[in-house]
Amino acid sequence: MKKILVIGGGAMGSAFTIPCIENKNIVTITEPYNNIFIKNLSSKNKFHSALKVSLPKKLKFRKFSENLLKEKFDLIVIALSLPGIDFIGKKLKKFKIKTPILVLTKGLKYEKKNKKILTIPEQLKKNYNVSNISILKGPCLAKELAKKNQTNVIIANKSIKKAQQIGKMISTSYYLIEFSKDVIGIEVCSAIKNIYSMIIGAGQSLNASSNLFQKSVIEMKYLTKYFKGQEHTIMGLAGVGDLYVSAAGGRNSKMGSYLGKGYTFKIAKKRFMPYDTVEGEQLAKEIAPFIFKKVSKRKIPLMISLLKTIINNKRLKIKV
Ligand SMILES: NC(=O)c1ccc[n+]([C@@H]2O[C@H](COP(=O)([O-])OP(=O)(O)OC[C@H]3O[C@@H](n4cnc5c(N)ncnc54)[C@H](O)[C@@H]3O)[C@@H](O)[C@H]2O)c1
Repeated sequence: MKKILVIGGGAMGSAFTIPCIENKNIVTITEPYNNIFIKNLSSKNKFHSALKVSLPKKLKFRKFSENLLKEKFDLIVIALSLPGIDFIGKKLKKFKIKTPILVLTKGLKYEKKNKKILTIPEQLKKNYNVSNISILKGPCLAKELAKKNQTNVIIANKSIKKAQQIGKMISTSYYLIEFSKDVIGIEVCSAIKNIYSMIIGAGQSLNASSNLFQKSVIEMKYLTKYFKGQEHTIMGLAGVGDLYVSAAGGRNSKMGSYLGKGYTFKIAKKRFMPYDTVEGEQLAKEIAPFIFKKVSKRKIPLMISLLKTIINNKRLKIKV
């Protein structure tokens, strides 16, 4: 029985507590940012408005505070979306937290000063001196995990032993875990699939989308190798696995379908998805300056088209 703190009471952080509790851990969740989630988690029946389920009675909710971070936990899980990484990095640095960290957040950061793309563990290490980081990624719709549907994910750490220790702590009969040493490849794949699922969504038929799927995998392979990830990671859960789930059932592919119909991003967002976070858009804005300057346009034509569409708010043009 271990003590786990989950930071982020959104859909993913909350769903993640379910296997953790089932695996007999003492689980505390905290939410630093969103008042609706705070209300959900502190209510008597713990009904989560995004997941549409009540969370386990044993789940403890604590108000977010710096003191909470100073308490003793065996694992701290970060389940905030990308803008929350700087927020939590600053807090962890201030208290020199040495507890093992598990990051669920997906995304990449562009470091303007050095003109470099950083993965989330690189960002936490470099900017906030946080070490002992593992990552958990792969195809997981939070709503399905909350219903205890079979979910297969992958934990990566350069030390497989550390990844396995965490896996043992959180896996159940329906939350099944693979392991990898390829932290960079898994970080890159799990971020860029948000952009490629928009591209696949833009195909207006299954036939057209299948063609875009195949060409997206080739570009993902190129980019993963470019950033020094391992080629085989593309064919794993964080690569094609996560691309499939996002293209079949996510907000990015829904936005992609409007782009494919000829709407500009801003009009589609305002008209059809005003309250949805489209992670592919956030990532496109983050990495576009780097991709436009540093990566061969010939090698990643789909990515370039999508970035231009978002950055210049122009209609999507895909030539395949
Ligand atoms: N690893 C996995 O298996 C997996 C699966 C699904 C989603 N995810 C990732 O988990 C992350 C969260 O996804 P979600 O579905 O829970 O999203 P969500 O919108 O339901 O929740 C977002 C969370 O981030 C916090 N947040 C947002 N902006 C913030 C800011 N500026 N500062 C601090 N906190 C902020 C919110 O308060 C909330 O806790 C995303 O990066 C998503 O890609 C991971």
